[in-house]
Amino acid sequence: MRDTNFLIGNNAKHVWHPMAHPGEMRANPPRIVEQGEGVEIVDIHGHRTLDGVGGLWNVNLGYSCDPVKDAMTAQLHKLPYYNAFRGTTTSPLIELSYELCEFFKPEGMARTFLTSGGSDSVETCLRLARQFHRANGQPERTKFVSLKKGYHGTHFGGASVNGNPNFRRNYEPMLAGVIHLPAPFTYRNPFDTDDGAIIARKIGAAFEEEIAFHGADTIAALIMEPVLGSGGVIVPHESFFPIMREICDRHGILLIADEVITGFGRAGSECGSRLWGIKPDMMSTAKGITNGYFPLGAAMIGEKLVSAFEDAKGPVGTISHGYTYSGHPIGAAAALATLAEVKRLDVAANAAARGEELLAGLHELASRHEIVGDARGKGLMAALELVSDREKKTPAAKDVVQALYDKTYEEGVMVRTSGNNVIISPCLIIDNSHVARILSALDAGLAAAARKMKGH
Ligand SMILES: Cc1ncc(COP(=O)(O)O)c(C=O)c1O
Repeated sequence: MRDTNFLIGNNAKHVWHPMAHPGEMRANPPRIVEQGEGVEIVDIHGHRTLDGVGGLWNVNLGYSCDPVKDAMTAQLHKLPYYNAFRGTTTSPLIELSYELCEFFKPEGMARTFLTSGGSDSVETCLRLARQFHRANGQPERTKFVSLKKGYHGTHFGGASVNGNPNFRRNYEPMLAGVIHLPAPFTYRNPFDTDDGAIIARKIGAAFEEEIAFHGADTIAALIMEPVLGSGGVIVPHESFFPIMREICDRHGILLIADEVITGFGRAGSECGSRLWGIKPDMMSTAKGITNGYFPLGAAMIGEKLVSAFEDAKGPVGTISHGYTYSGHPIGAAAALATLAEVKRLDVAANAAARGEELLAGLHELASRHEIVGDARGKGLMAALELVSDREKKTPAAKDVVQALYDKTYEEGVMVRTSGNNVIISPCLIIDNSHVARILSALDAGLAAAARKMKGH
């Protein structure tokens, strides 16, 4: 291992980081995280912070989860890899597929297809949606519907259904035949209301209009996150998912719930679909499935789709899709141990309870800091939206957001900023003292951001 000076000197010099400008990264190199312990991380200078990012919405059980580490180590020694392409499989994969179908049984999930992460899981769902309709005698159903501000990863399919222009513009043209609906966002929307129930109905009406325009028989699936994460933690009204589910059902359109963030407890329920009381037709999962310790994902397939594939005669039922690491035995072992811990610790209930405390605290901060335009969240997904003018909702400038980020870090809490949003997504095993620490560091961070805005 090279010494500290080498690492600092070469930081961001030979690598291009995801979702970042390589020139900016060279000019302002990222923090080097060296160690993780419990719900905290330590940087290369020894500065310890509570991880308010939870890795990247994925280290739900924290950094010291020995059952997961032990399961991975044991599997590494027994069988570090074997493929799961037609003809061979491994025992952790068999066991994990059983457990995942059990875990998501209330959502009607009956099969799983393992992947290497969230983008892969989304891609798998999109592809299988088209194949399902083809196998079902409706090959013209190829289009996808999604939400503006939604995030579904970076493969061409996922990026095409993404609803953030930042992730699309440099890579155009995207997949043809994607229809975007407005996001169920009370703070900013084209409907001139902050009433979530009205917004839900209006998006439903817009969906119906698009269906009438395109023809239901051309639409394969609607894909949505139960709580929009990367788009700035947008929590839909409770009526929204049921409304969209009913419209999909009426028009034979599949509903894919992108549960990559919400899949294993983060939103305060075992999954986002359970939170809203709906059964999707497919679910894309990843992130918390292995507690972030191994890159693994799972596309879950609902009962309704099974026979179209399994009873199909000929190639239309063959899944001509998959990854070298689909069902990687170490990842599967990690996921099995993670699932057991998720259930044993009931992290969904803790996320719900701590999430309420956190949200109440964020509202209290908003009442004292003019710079906060909106505070929102569900479970342990939360955000503060920073503005320079509350009336006009003008997004706060980059250096103002950076001032919050730096001060909060100095105060001992790592948060993530995205545009003018401050995103808070700690490990799901935090207690109320951790919530208090996050709020107190943000309090100082907001004061620093306000000073920056005033030019001090
Ligand atoms: C909802 C959602 N879908 C898909 C993805 C893509 O996952 P990955 O980065 O593991 O490819 C993400 C990542 O943040 C996500 O939040």
